[in-house]
Amino acid sequence: MSANDLPPAGAQDLTHAGAGAPASGDPIPAGAAGRPAGAAGRLRTAPYAPAAARDSAFLKACRREPVPHTPVWFMRQAGRSLPEYLKVREGIPMLESCMRPELVTEITLQPVRRHKVDAAIYFSDIVVPLKAIGIDLDIKPGVGPVVAEPVRRREDLARLRDLTPEDVAYVTEAIGMLTGELGATPLIGFAGAPFTLASYLVEGGPSRNHEHTKALMYGDPELWAELLDRLAAITAAFLRVQIEAGASAVQLFDSWVGALSPADYRRSVLPASARVFDAVAEYGVPRIHFGVGTGELLGLMGEAGADVVGADWRVPVDEAARRVGPGKAIQGNLDPAVLFAPRQAVESATDRVLAAASGLEGHIFNLGHGVLPATDPDALTRLVEHVHTRTAR
Ligand code: CP3
Repeated sequence: MSANDLPPAGAQDLTHAGAGAPASGDPIPAGAAGRPAGAAGRLRTAPYAPAAARDSAFLKACRREPVPHTPVWFMRQAGRSLPEYLKVREGIPMLESCMRPELVTEITLQPVRRHKVDAAIYFSDIVVPLKAIGIDLDIKPGVGPVVAEPVRRREDLARLRDLTPEDVAYVTEAIGMLTGELGATPLIGFAGAPFTLASYLVEGGPSRNHEHTKALMYGDPELWAELLDRLAAITAAFLRVQIEAGASAVQLFDSWVGALSPADYRRSVLPASARVFDAVAEYGVPRIHFGVGTGELLGLMGEAGADVVGADWRVPVDEAARRVGPGKAIQGNLDPAVLFAPRQAVESATDRVLAAASGLEGHIFNLGHGVLPATDPDALTRLVEHVHTRTAR
């Protein structure tokens, strides 16, 4: 059964293999830490994810294997433009909705059912792990994450304690439900990268120029490094929870890192992001790395340890692949604003992305950033169909 044909979550028996159960029947040899041993650096089947997802076009493209068609999914595909999303979210604050496993399952499945995308992305937000360790923050509609007390001094670091699986038990529960319902459609887990999380914590909310963040980064490099270290540990723990619960791949969103020069990125950000990727390497699940305005950083973002690098729409995907270097798949990169143009123009722009991607070993079609809230959902459905038809082999 495919997730595309599924009834709404909760409308059927949700019995499944259970969160964290190895899908193959063969127990995964666990290391002392209860994690799978070995296989670092090699992409293989997600250890806890449904085996049925292994041969999906999405995971094959991540592994740079031949695919039946170019796989498609959209950043921010869950929520935003879907009327069925707005309906189930009615009266429920964003962060609370992230803690309700049945609701998370339903929202995550909605774009898979509607658009027939090749992967689901877990419905949550990058600030959920920070909330889970007790940081006083909220997500304000139309604004984004707002932190009550910004993190700017050494004594503030004490508030950034380690994250345990118990802090996010609802994530394990929701992913268990989801993998049961998704069948052969892979689930992408995600987290915010240390720099982007630090930007919200240090600024206290969304920021255009990241001035407090940069003041700390340049003014107290030692404290900055400790802050990013704390965030790397929290992020790694959050990704591990998602992989152990059944996520088939993970994406690290460094949305705002394009604000930095390559030299500053290498010195002040890359080490912490690399620690996150290292911490989940042993699972062998594809690791995707994405940021906006990162044309000058693509090579370094690949160096941080990702298997797939996402590019925004400013750099053609063949040029992005050249900058990233060999051995990595590329994800992207239709300008999300193009979806507001007439159908013919959307198709032409899509064909230009596909033409640029035609020589790549491993391409995952996506937008260059998240779905914009006012996007017509039908334009997204048509886009998936168009990419599938054009690239069928
Ligand atoms: O991709 C998906 O569909 C999964 C869900 C998802 C959300 N946030 C749900 C959400 C994902 C992957 C994110 C990641 C996220 N959150 C990022 C990285 C991706 C990116 O866009 O660069 C960032 C920077 C955030 C922080 C954040 N949270 C922002 C900027 C906003 C938008 C504020 C707004 O309303 O314009 C949020 C809120 C948020 N996250 C919403 C959703 C569905 C809207 C919540 C609401 O108010 O109803």
